[in-house]
Amino acid sequence: MFFDILTIFEDFFDSSLKNQNCGVISKAICSGILQVAVRNLRDYTHDRHRTTDDRPFGGGAGMVMKPEPLCNALDEIKLEAQRALAPEPLVVLLSPRGVTFNQKLACELANFEHICLICGRYEGVDERVRELYVDFELSIGDYVLSGGEAAALVVVDAVGRLCKGVLGCESSSKEESFSQEHLLLEHPHYTRPRHFRGLNVPEVLLSGDHARIQKWRREEALKLTAIKRPELLEQAQLTEEDMAFLGKIR
Ligand code: ADE
Repeated sequence: MFFDILTIFEDFFDSSLKNQNCGVISKAICSGILQVAVRNLRDYTHDRHRTTDDRPFGGGAGMVMKPEPLCNALDEIKLEAQRALAPEPLVVLLSPRGVTFNQKLACELANFEHICLICGRYEGVDERVRELYVDFELSIGDYVLSGGEAAALVVVDAVGRLCKGVLGCESSSKEESFSQEHLLLEHPHYTRPRHFRGLNVPEVLLSGDHARIQKWRREEALKLTAIKRPELLEQAQLTEEDMAFLGKIR
């Protein structure tokens, strides 16, 4: 899977994506399973000051990202894809007015071979870039960041880890919270030591009885979801046994 990131702050991505000690995503990049090209928008300007922003027409506070550097970069990316006989990239603009990102969208994006993430800055991006190039606008939540860079990292992480070979164990992304299959929060986890500061590991997890352990985990997941995110239960695939358990605890 290939990500292109268009930004005016390319250094923002250095430690998290290039340093192999930063977890599964940076490892996957180092081994070539994931490819990430961070493109500095200033390299696509043609003036002495390498200008990427300008004042808004109509007046008002703040600056707007100019269309030319973004469109020049996107043209180059599309041309490179054409020359490599590769599919056109999906062009995603990170912005607070986009669709809110979630695990379902991450799974959908993981089906694309090439995603181009535009990191907006300042007051926003010239509207014509949206009209001419953007396939999809994505927000990572209902708050305003100082730019799309942090959001781009979130997307690369959430989508990248779903790509084949990125996680050591293929099943772990399926079993975790919000996965397609369950849409429940995950059950609690414990590791050694058995006793820690007066708190013990639940006895069932030490029993070796896998059926009991599975049942306990399912019930804990249902309980947590009912308490913390009850709205998720409406979309979850629940069995009669699940419904009976929820009936008991509600
Ligand atoms: N840029 C600024 N705020 C953002 C958000 N919430 N999501 C994605 N990009 C953004």
